[in-house]
Amino acid sequence: MARTRWQYAAIAATVSLSIAACSDNTSWFKGESEAVDSALNTLVSDLDLRQDPRAGRNLPQITDPLPQLGRDLFFTKALGGGMDSACVTCHHPSLGGADALSFSVGVGAVNPDLLGEGRVHGGGLPLVPRNAPTVFNLGLWDTGLFWDSRVESLGKTAGANGAGSGIRTPDTLLGTADPGAGPNLASAQAHFPVTSAEEMRTSAFENGSSNEDVRSHLAARVGNYGIGAGELATNTWLPAFQAAFSSTDTAENLITFDNIAEAIGEYERSMVFVNSPWQRFLDGDTDAMTQQQKEGALLFFTRPGDGGAGCAACHSGPLFSNGMHTTVAFPQIGPGKGDGPTTNDDFGRERETGNPQDRYRFRVPSLLNIEMTAPYGHAGAYATLEEVVRHYDSPQRTVDTYFANGGWCQQDQFRDLASCASLYPDAVSNTQLALDKLRQEQRDRVSLFGQIDLEDAQVDQLVAFMQALTDPCVTDRSCLDPWIANNASSGHDGIQLNAVDEAMNPL
Ligand code: HEC
Ligand code: HEC
Repeated sequence: MARTRWQYAAIAATVSLSIAACSDNTSWFKGESEAVDSALNTLVSDLDLRQDPRAGRNLPQITDPLPQLGRDLFFTKALGGGMDSACVTCHHPSLGGADALSFSVGVGAVNPDLLGEGRVHGGGLPLVPRNAPTVFNLGLWDTGLFWDSRVESLGKTAGANGAGSGIRTPDTLLGTADPGAGPNLASAQAHFPVTSAEEMRTSAFENGSSNEDVRSHLAARVGNYGIGAGELATNTWLPAFQAAFSSTDTAENLITFDNIAEAIGEYERSMVFVNSPWQRFLDGDTDAMTQQQKEGALLFFTRPGDGGAGCAACHSGPLFSNGMHTTVAFPQIGPGKGDGPTTNDDFGRERETGNPQDRYRFRVPSLLNIEMTAPYGHAGAYATLEEVVRHYDSPQRTVDTYFANGGWCQQDQFRDLASCASLYPDAVSNTQLALDKLRQEQRDRVSLFGQIDLEDAQVDQLVAFMQALTDPCVTDRSCLDPWIANNASSGHDGIQLNAVDEAMNPL
């Protein structure tokens, strides 16, 4: 069936290419724009793209009691071992649900409340080796979370968000359900950042303890009982938990880490931002996208062999991800995950499966609201969507140009560091290994990464199409307000993270 759909797409692509050939790119005649509309409508029907991303999913509203509690937990530094880092540190709604940095800075920041550009670690360099993905639309994932899906649904049931079929986490072996994962992928994931010394725990807090002991201590701190009693100067969490869980139970029974993770997960699952121009176009509003965006859509969904860019081979479905792990060889910069002879490489999915075939494979990311979450890739190497598209057009040349132009030193996070150029001496060779693997996979015909040859105008069209995946709500502070903890208050414990930007303006 898939092949037939791609064949139909080929017909649409042929139409679009003949249009491109006779257009001068500045003036559009009515007939030409109608031809693009009709080609795109054909493609949308044939690929069955007209879907509601929320369909069949049981997603909460932010006004529901559990997401309300989850939001406040997401914003409190009480869940950071040293009380200087919160979930929101790296996933702020005003920053696209991420942090606008190549590499996150968690504990030990010069100013813990300053998020985004200008956030620096006291030691100078970021310690987290991967880019923070958005937490928006988390409820649309059915496969796995993290760049290597180390939190993974065992059943991958469509529409379930990991519920009902067991979830593997870093606390269990590959393929084995974690009995403590909670109801869905979001709750399962929320058990882990608090255990990471760089992200939230600090090396001093519960040093050498098990993940379970770290979590119990934090829950006891929030609940003001046992080992955590008295650790917060003020504490009104119990009534908040009682309201959210409609219960009169004690703190010991109600403020457990599993309940904390469930509430945070429900908050994340309430962040559904899918009302993009693309979705409005699918819903029948022909004028929701510009001509250029529509041409970009045609390229995006058409196969390379048919003159398209082949993006939908991996970025498919309403989430724009097939949930698989593939090699695309974006630059490997930063401290890495300790892999390879240089110990600063990142083997991606192989780290979980142990299978060398999976080396340099990363989970295909969603492209919803992608405009808001630069820099891009698992190591946050590329600063713009244009660079990303050029990478697909010519991976080796784009990587070479990237490093020739200074690599990571082009980025705001590194630009001002005196020793910038010498920071990651193995970045070029590690990236080359990934590029070689990509080429080998292409030769072996196991790669979904097609050979394409884009003109500059087509690069712009693809970028424009990706900009049509932005829900206007995520660019509007007042629309996002329900997901941001009330910054006129210091929260339930006096250490809510009320974020500011580099200019000290509230986020
Ligand atoms: C120091 C920054 C930092 C903090 C603090 C942090 N995260 Fe993250 N988060 C990241 C990074 C980096 C990744 C990607 C890590 C990887 O894939 O290996 C990530 C991944 C995620 C993901 C996976 C998203 C996806 O699409 O796969 C979710 C969900 C998430 N974080 C939620 C949370 C929650 C909930 C908290 C608080 C309990 C939290 N994060 C705290 C940086 C952070
Ligand atoms: C072979 C599968 C595959 C194809 C084909 C593909 N992508 Fe990707 N895409 C990925 C993977 C995997 C990543 C993550 C790479 C990494 O982190 O190093 C990614 C990352 C991206 C990102 C950055 C996302 C983020 O959150 O940082 C964008 C943007 C993107 N792709 C757009 C496109 C476009 C446009 C096309 C078509 C020209 C395309 N992709 C084709 C697999 C693919």
